[in-house]
Amino acid sequence: MRQGAWRSRFSYSNRPGRMRRCGASNGVSATNSFVLKTVKLQTSAAGRMRPFFYIYDRNEDTLAVAEAEACVLADGEVVGHGVVEGKARIACAETGFMRAGAELLARGRTLEKLVGCIRERGLSADRYRIVAEPIPRTVGGDHRAIRAVAACIEGPADLRNPTEEFLLVVSSGGFWFGRLIPKGCDRWREFDRRPRPFCNAAPLRLVRAAIGLSTQPGDRVHDPCCGSGTIPFLAWTMGRRAYGTDRSWPAVAMARENLAHFGCPVTIGHADARATDYQSDCIITNPPYDLYCPTNESTVPGMLASFRSAAPRVTVITAMDLAPLVTELGYTVERAIPVRRHDFERTLYIMRSPE
Ligand SMILES: C[S@@+](CC[C@H](N)C(=O)[O-])C[C@H]1O[C@@H](n2cnc3c(N)ncnc32)[C@H](O)[C@@H]1O
Repeated sequence: MRQGAWRSRFSYSNRPGRMRRCGASNGVSATNSFVLKTVKLQTSAAGRMRPFFYIYDRNEDTLAVAEAEACVLADGEVVGHGVVEGKARIACAETGFMRAGAELLARGRTLEKLVGCIRERGLSADRYRIVAEPIPRTVGGDHRAIRAVAACIEGPADLRNPTEEFLLVVSSGGFWFGRLIPKGCDRWREFDRRPRPFCNAAPLRLVRAAIGLSTQPGDRVHDPCCGSGTIPFLAWTMGRRAYGTDRSWPAVAMARENLAHFGCPVTIGHADARATDYQSDCIITNPPYDLYCPTNESTVPGMLASFRSAAPRVTVITAMDLAPLVTELGYTVERAIPVRRHDFERTLYIMRSPE
């Protein structure tokens, strides 16, 4: 594939997505296809502090990281099982685990309270559609809730060709209703179909969340154990200035081929992570843990010792218990988030290097 083809090939909008099948739009402009937009909105005139709500993936194995990602990106907090209210507007498809979000129009502990709230504010819409999200999926009552809410909206419903879309969360803990935020672009998922896959590769959604939790757009992000290039690639798609290195020449070649396939201009170099001297804002890496990827007792300690002088922030995805080692090396652990996949336990460590 020619250079730049990734951007141009994916520059159209409204590609059908998963939510779209159940009724949501997926609009995104060509220019913002890749960069995660976290636009902080000012507090409204009414003084409401939390203008948005979001739902996120509630798979038990990844619940802790999904919650952390939703709270940090939305700049808010969990207000119900699987629901976060926050101050920031997020395109959910550009995150790892957030599923949908809306501008909050009304909420209520019961359906009657929600309906009262919508009636009070008076809502009219031209050709609208309501997308309902029952939490948990088995909670039921969503059809009744849709009918009750629709009865409060002045204007015609149009399920096929709506001009406005609303999100209605129906849960045992309460009801949330708002104007759906376009989901954004999830084309980064195509990296799962890279030409050179790697059995040791980090899961894309987890990496996506790790980048969002540890860095801001524009930050220099270095992965010194880049393997097939997952972290540099996703960092680039999220508007970070990415760089990757690996000690293995076959890994360097694999990452270069994968990135070139998607027209990603990130440089991949050859280096030993135990002697990292490239200065970045954040190291994000998934070091070897002896599973298909031989290592010895001094490899990871040697890497972590060297990262301290190369970046003020270090984020590590690993199956090892790093707690004693990083404490000894002077790191401050800001978060240690467990992530499971079947029987395989990993931890996402988000740390600050010693001053
Ligand atoms: C778990 S894999 C990383 C997978 C990568 N995150 C991906 O998604 O493809 C660990 C990588 O660390 C590399 N590695 C092992 N020892 C290293 C060292 N001392 N310096 C740099 N890289 C090393 C291996 O070659 C391997 O590619």
